[in-house]
Amino acid sequence: MAPGASEETALGQRVFAHGRGAVLTDLDGADYLDFAAGTLTQSLGHCHPEVVDALTAQAARLWNVHDSATEGRDVLLDLLTRLLPEHLDTYAFFSTGAEAVEAALRVVQATAPPGRNRLGALRHGFHGKTMGARMLVHWDIGNQAFAGNSVLGYSPYCYRCPLDLEYPSCEVRCASLVRKHIAEKPNVSALVFEPVLGAAGVIVPPPGYWEQIAEACRANGVLLVADEVLTGGGRTGSFLASEALGIEPDLVVLSKGMANGFPFAVLAGRAELLRSPEAARAGSYASTYASNPLGIAAARATLGIIERDRLTERVRELGALLDERLSALRARHEQLGDVRAAGLLFGLEFVTDEDSRTPAPDIARNVYTTALDLGLRTSVGGHIIRLAPPFTLTEAQLDEGVGMLAEAIERVTAT
Ligand SMILES: Cc1ncc(COP(=O)(O)O)c(C=O)c1O
Repeated sequence: MAPGASEETALGQRVFAHGRGAVLTDLDGADYLDFAAGTLTQSLGHCHPEVVDALTAQAARLWNVHDSATEGRDVLLDLLTRLLPEHLDTYAFFSTGAEAVEAALRVVQATAPPGRNRLGALRHGFHGKTMGARMLVHWDIGNQAFAGNSVLGYSPYCYRCPLDLEYPSCEVRCASLVRKHIAEKPNVSALVFEPVLGAAGVIVPPPGYWEQIAEACRANGVLLVADEVLTGGGRTGSFLASEALGIEPDLVVLSKGMANGFPFAVLAGRAELLRSPEAARAGSYASTYASNPLGIAAARATLGIIERDRLTERVRELGALLDERLSALRARHEQLGDVRAAGLLFGLEFVTDEDSRTPAPDIARNVYTTALDLGLRTSVGGHIIRLAPPFTLTEAQLDEGVGMLAEAIERVTAT
């Protein structure tokens, strides 16, 4: 294998054999509670029996006929119509997040009025590693390729405020600066954003942030393109994070939470954009695996269960419980500088000490490997550990996982 795997894989050095629900088992027979849900993908836990049945049945019938309509696709379309806000009524299917982000950028480019040839993005946003998506990412994601000329706005990173202000006395200055930027730059066609910024450490906007920015985009004819690859599908306690934050996006990209870990992505949008003759030329939304029947089967089963079992409600309950436990942990350890939560998505930021807030990647890595040795899998990147357990986690598993994390932090910070 070429080197260049994720930090967690390189540090973890495990060979996993099978998984069921929140539990993963390695080749040596050791069990792990998976608080990273694969790669923040398995909202229903590993190998959910109904998703396995749907995939197995589809695998025995039909795998690939390009992007032709296949049996059961209509059921998925109906589900999306019910789960997404009414105005997002037109869909295209892909297989990865970045692929769907690229499709969204093509739609923006095809429908933009003349002269609007730049994109807006947020500092700390992550949108994938293909060139178009990469153009919008302006922080070190491990491979500094070409970074294009997108217009950048401040993200709502209160713990490390770029303006050295404090919420709420700041009156959300970061947002007013983005708003000003949008009003002053007539050549911006769309703002591409994560409503909650996931990869950079679960940066959760304070009230007032999105209201100002969304309104400025509307007033200035700038499309709102929500990258909900990570947050979509109920992860933050509503089907879209945008909904709870009062944003009405024109286009939305979804992937990780769509098909319980099977490669699948959705571009959802207003009909006037996705159906416009400029955007919808023959082949515009087609690719080798776009509209793949296996992905559709996995998504149909996954989203059907999320809707039937009202799992977004469960996310809010479990999220509140986990937030309470992690806040108590934070109060006990100054090196756990910040705990940020959005539903069942958490960012734990490790620092050398409370006053300097100097990022402490060594502590985060040690906590990650110690927790793994104890039987808890998390997601590590730099000085941040992310948690995104399955929505089907039991309360006993939640407490067990927090116990292992507490033990790991205790051991690492005591040395
Ligand atoms: C918000 C966001 N957008 C896009 C992507 C890229 O998705 P993929 O890795 O499936 O290409 C990711 C992946 O983590 C993501 O978190």
